[in-house]
Amino acid sequence: MSTKWTADAIPALAGRTFVVTGANSGLGLEAARLLAGNGAHVVMTARSRTKGEAAAARIGQDVPGASLELRTLDLADLDSVREFARGLHEDGVGVDVLINNAGVMMAPQQQTKQGFELQFGTNHLGHFALTGLLLDLLAAGSDPRVVTVSSTFHKQGSIDFDDLMRTKGYNPNAAYAQSKLANLLFGLELQRRLSAAGSPVRSLMAHPGYSATNLQFAVTTGWRKAILRVGNSLFAQKAAVGVLPEVRAAVAPDVAGGQYYGSANFFETRGHPEVVQPSRRAQDPELAARLWEESEKLTGVVYPL
Ligand SMILES: NC(=O)c1ccc[n+]([C@@H]2O[C@H](COP(=O)([O-])OP(=O)(O)OC[C@H]3O[C@@H](n4cnc5c(N)ncnc54)[C@H](OP(=O)(O)O)[C@@H]3O)[C@@H](O)[C@H]2O)c1
Repeated sequence: MSTKWTADAIPALAGRTFVVTGANSGLGLEAARLLAGNGAHVVMTARSRTKGEAAAARIGQDVPGASLELRTLDLADLDSVREFARGLHEDGVGVDVLINNAGVMMAPQQQTKQGFELQFGTNHLGHFALTGLLLDLLAAGSDPRVVTVSSTFHKQGSIDFDDLMRTKGYNPNAAYAQSKLANLLFGLELQRRLSAAGSPVRSLMAHPGYSATNLQFAVTTGWRKAILRVGNSLFAQKAAVGVLPEVRAAVAPDVAGGQYYGSANFFETRGHPEVVQPSRRAQDPELAARLWEESEKLTGVVYPL
């Protein structure tokens, strides 16, 4: 039987810098708290400065002396992604680990600033662009890693290359599943490309099972919101446990590039992190390469790999 991986296993992180997207809420907030609590410098990103400041203040209360830096980043706007990346470069901020955590779920049909379907645009394309723009900083980091947060929902996902933006017969669940499948295809393809290029950066993926956060309520409405609220209170695990897979992938010394960590119990809805398996579709290298090309075209961010 494997030993439970808990927050006690987080090594000392002094001198290391972590960028966490969506750090003002849910799992991102928990990740920032745990990382800062173990001595890391954490670049907390939030799209709202007010929400970000409130989150940083909460962490400051729990972790006296926490080394935190708040920067605004809206993943649904590629101009904001570029501005954020430029800011880190200009200010000489080194990055050791990037946690692509932010996300939006089951949104009604909406578009990002550049006209992409909101969930694909935010969850996948925003992080695809961000990672590409920070890769040089990561390559100069210590034990550098990119951790991309997916979901068990990826198993229901398919990539519709004829209608990536889901303009025909929009279904919020299908669009979310597509975006979470894209997160895994991206993470695995990134690892393939990094190893082929001999890069020191490793790409890992994670999922938090079913965790009680704001995700289910952020953009859902009506009966969907009501059902999710009941489900959340009855079945969801605490965010403090759901965050452990992404934190393990980000900090554990014994992980390998390309691994996917998730809450492993009860159909991967809860429990402490273990290596879990992506769906066969998520492991398809041809599908991943095609998505990569499309993502470079759509974002205009071409990886130096
Ligand atoms: N909770 C679960 O059961 C579950 C299950 C599977 C996967 N996940 C994944 O876990 C990750 C974290 O979600 P969570 O559960 O912690 O939900 P959450 O509490 O709603 O947090 C999501 C975070 O993403 C941010 N965000 C949303 N749209 C953004 C944008 N356009 N630009 C920048 N940031 C944006 C949110 O900012 P605002 O506060 O401003 O909205 C918030 O900080 C997501 O990738 C989600 O898909 C969660």
